[in-house]
Amino acid sequence: MLNPKASAGSLRNARGVVLIGFMGAGKSSVGRILGEQLGWTFEDLDERIERREQRSVPAIFRESGESGFRRVEHAALREVVRELRAGAARIVALGGGAFAQARNARLIEAAGVPTVFLDADVEELWRRCRQQAEMQGIERPLLGSPESFRSLYQARRPSYLKALFRQETGGKTVKRIAAEMAQVLGLDRGTKKPGEKK
Ligand code: S3P
Repeated sequence: MLNPKASAGSLRNARGVVLIGFMGAGKSSVGRILGEQLGWTFEDLDERIERREQRSVPAIFRESGESGFRRVEHAALREVVRELRAGAARIVALGGGAFAQARNARLIEAAGVPTVFLDADVEELWRRCRQQAEMQGIERPLLGSPESFRSLYQARRPSYLKALFRQETGGKTVKRIAAEMAQVLGLDRGTKKPGEKK
């Protein structure tokens, strides 16, 4: 659960948390619920990219290629990190490839913002992504075939394991994952009760 780099104090004064993990890990849905529980703003990096670019992530991949996407992703992340450094309390969900880019990981680490890796078995991640594609029409440019999905996951996993915390998500509801995370991060003490005003 805990990377040896994490100290008990690493979150005491945290004003932000960055969620990382592969496609289908639940970064955005967990982040949204955790934000509600803590009364913190939730931000999805891909949504910021789309606002900045005025086009969707699949359109960026189609028109500018993966390298074009990584450039705007890095620029958007720099902006978010600047805001976190300035004291914005926020849960930030990154796209699946962001933390696997060394310069992005360095940027987050240098800012001292704690990272949480949302982990799940690759077969479950594939099932979730396929289901989201079929039921919600979610298009993921790098989804590919089951084989390419698996090998991309294996290639990126060592980067994900550099996160300060690892949260297992397999077979758990989004609500339960968020509750476990708040507890492990030591952030549940200030968690809002339903209907309570902060
Ligand atoms: C990507 C994952 C996507 C999105 C982009 C690239 C990746 O985000 O950032 O399509 O490289 O794994 P999700 O992880 O939210 O699907």
